[in-house]
Amino acid sequence: MVWSKKILGEISWAGAQPRLRFSSPSHPGKGRKLAFVSMTEQIVILDFGSQYTQVIARRIRECQVYSIILPFNTPAAEIAKLQPRGLILSGGPSSVYAADAPLPDKAIFELGLPILGICYGVQIFGHFLGGKVEPGEKREYGKGTLTVTDPGCALFRKLPAALQVWNSHGDKLTRLPAGFRPVARTENSEYAAIQDGQRGFFGIQFHPEVVHTPRGKEVLSNFVHRICGCGRNWTMRSYIDQAVEQIRAQVGGERVILGLSGGVDSSVAAALLHQAIGDQLTCIFVNNGVLRAGEAEVVREVFGKHFRIRLHYENAATLFLKRLQGVLDPERKRKLIGRTFIEVFEAALRHEARAKFLAQGTLYPDVIESVPIAGNPAALIKSHHNVGGLPKKMRLQLVEPLRCLFKDEVRQLGKELGLPDEIVWRQPFPGPGLAVRVIGEVTRRRLDILRKADTIVIEEMMASGWYRKIWQSFAVLLPVKSVGVMGDERTYDYTIAVRAVESQDGMTADWVRLPYEMLEKLASRIVNEVKGVNRCVFDITSKPPGTIEWE
Ligand code: XMP
Repeated sequence: MVWSKKILGEISWAGAQPRLRFSSPSHPGKGRKLAFVSMTEQIVILDFGSQYTQVIARRIRECQVYSIILPFNTPAAEIAKLQPRGLILSGGPSSVYAADAPLPDKAIFELGLPILGICYGVQIFGHFLGGKVEPGEKREYGKGTLTVTDPGCALFRKLPAALQVWNSHGDKLTRLPAGFRPVARTENSEYAAIQDGQRGFFGIQFHPEVVHTPRGKEVLSNFVHRICGCGRNWTMRSYIDQAVEQIRAQVGGERVILGLSGGVDSSVAAALLHQAIGDQLTCIFVNNGVLRAGEAEVVREVFGKHFRIRLHYENAATLFLKRLQGVLDPERKRKLIGRTFIEVFEAALRHEARAKFLAQGTLYPDVIESVPIAGNPAALIKSHHNVGGLPKKMRLQLVEPLRCLFKDEVRQLGKELGLPDEIVWRQPFPGPGLAVRVIGEVTRRRLDILRKADTIVIEEMMASGWYRKIWQSFAVLLPVKSVGVMGDERTYDYTIAVRAVESQDGMTADWVRLPYEMLEKLASRIVNEVKGVNRCVFDITSKPPGTIEWE
């Protein structure tokens, strides 16, 4: 089951801000210890390999309930020790009758806990409790309508009888497990939702966690609140307290270093780590000469002066720009910047020889790389592209306190930690910086021109409220000179392209329909205020076929 993030949908932070509460940074990693035994009112999610099990956890966080994700085969005795209020069996790509199908400890059904089986989770009920699962004649994939046939079912309390749902399954239940009865159906399946009221077991074929099941969160809320009896106790503060506890447990008295880029993710990770371990943390900030206007100053002000974090500022601008001389090819630019970054970072690290840990602001969407294989549902992990390869070489262990969070959650967390809006709401910015936005050779003069235009774009987007609503907006300097007229003078100057895109995750994007008045203001300010520019164009290419950056 391969789903795009678009279908699963991270809650977009455009417009009204979602009110979120946070859950634990738990991750079903190998050898993970079962922590936080003392937590009450938690839900355990067993992961059967769904690429987006974390999306279920996220929805539970939105219900202000704490949850923990554990591998599918966690022994029932271990689960019992956590004293959860309920269990959720995630979806997964396998067929329950396949030889290598991931199966849970069958004693989970004897724990006396309410259980919600989602998609593959329904097959688990069928397999263990006397039902029958067979390949369906017709795959049920995509949008469908669920008809609730038993309005008394607690899972659908206060929901309409007809619900839009998202399905993705080939196999289906053909005989109900003992004690179960159907409570909802779809066109293709008379057992689209089933329940065993006695034991508090519920099975749903559809996926309540994805955005294409618009009222799915209410189904999950009914499960955790009405059926499991959880209150709404999980708050952002709890998330911080717990993350702090976990960071301290992981690093003990050792020193940690973090490559601070000034972007949202590494900044939030820095503030969180600092709260946990204070001066054991050193941040390294490399000025690569291709930063935006004022970026280095903001980082030094916020982290050095305000938070009083040990900050190692490495100004390598001259080195980077020297190496970029005469380089036109985008791939060469990238490689050169990447290599030089590692070189400079490593040199800076020599002053931090005692460090045992490298912290990174890896988010959940960075963690998902490919669909886990049946029978081996552990998430595959990709290294962070900006400092990829470093930890392995330097034998540093990773600390990744944001790895179960989505971008909008990280922004909320940053706000709670006291980071200024300027950092919390920063749009994504590529590691190779303005070098990918100066097309052709990167020179100091061209960078100066682009910085001025970029500042105008940011100012105008912020003043109009567009900045927070969209994924990215920026200026690109084209190496094309054309003729213009200013006052009585003929000019022969560069062109600035303005790009503004909406996106969920940067994988696909559409250009933003900015109002004409806004475009007019941008063009007028850029051409009037930026010396060396006499023309401004607006990019109306979507991705694909275009990319977001021009390079
Ligand atoms: P493209 O240009 O590939 O960009 O459509 C997709 C998203 O990724 C950002 N980007 C980068 N981010 N290091 C990063 O951290 C990079 O090397 C890099 N290159 C592109 C880009 O800004 C957009 O949001």
